[in-house]
Amino acid sequence: PAIACVFGNPIEQSKSPIIHSMFASQFNLPLQYQKRLAPSDGFALSADQFFADISCIGANVTMPFKLDALQWVDTLSSQAKRAGAVNTIIRQNNGFTGDNTDGVGLVNDLHQHNIAVNKANILMIGAGGAAKGAIPALLDAGINSIAIYNRSVDKAQALVRHTNRYANSKARLYDSASMQAFDIVINATSLSLQNELPDLPDSVFANQPSVYDMVYLNKPTVFMQKATSLGCTMVVDGLGMLVNQAAQSFYLWFGQRPSCEPVYLHLRDLNK
Ligand code: ATR
Repeated sequence: PAIACVFGNPIEQSKSPIIHSMFASQFNLPLQYQKRLAPSDGFALSADQFFADISCIGANVTMPFKLDALQWVDTLSSQAKRAGAVNTIIRQNNGFTGDNTDGVGLVNDLHQHNIAVNKANILMIGAGGAAKGAIPALLDAGINSIAIYNRSVDKAQALVRHTNRYANSKARLYDSASMQAFDIVINATSLSLQNELPDLPDSVFANQPSVYDMVYLNKPTVFMQKATSLGCTMVVDGLGMLVNQAAQSFYLWFGQRPSCEPVYLHLRDLNK
């Protein structure tokens, strides 16, 4: 069988083996998908060892190795270059390509919820790896503008500058003083996992935007609850993004597009 894995530290919590096994069985494809705990300073060696076996066709990469993976691969996709991180490694005939499917995963999940991305004005909350990883795919999907808010303004500023290097001035800093109407508000921080809200005025929800929290719990997050209480009706958590980024990785390895819905429902069920 083909072998793939996910590298991380910690890794025990990873849902990727369940997701990819379900995808593989949709095509009767024999796939052995492993969890690999790499030492925090030992990604390159772990990757070398794993890929020494020619049956190993690819890997996912999660915290804290997405930058190490960027260094380790031979070539980078446009998504990975712009995201500045690699979450998917693909074995090619002549070496290894690094890609990043997080952004495509988000955009595909927005589409699956019938949230219009084309021409959208977006508020991105957070300026860490999750925000940076998502932005290239949002731009490719034809958004009109993206305002970035972050607790540390200098990081938001740096992400605006980085983005505008390839985005035709579509990115800017969020400015609480100017009234801005957003179509989609995305929480790319992990604040909801601590039951905390970003420090933003209610007015960001005034246009009743679609609201996306990249994390997920077994109930709506505080951020989702806040949006709902302010009248937003399309409010979504990050479970679909998780499944969709995996689907895009699967596609890169096998050229087949798995169906996300059954996997999404299964994980939702497990999480109850
Ligand atoms: P990731 O790769 O998951 O994005 P990260 O790079 O550590 O992780 O970034 C986490 C994001 O959550 C950042 O935008 C961070 O804000 P800072 O850049 O100001 O640190 C944000 N974040 C984390 N804890 C926060 C808190 N208590 N209040 C506000 N923002 C927070």
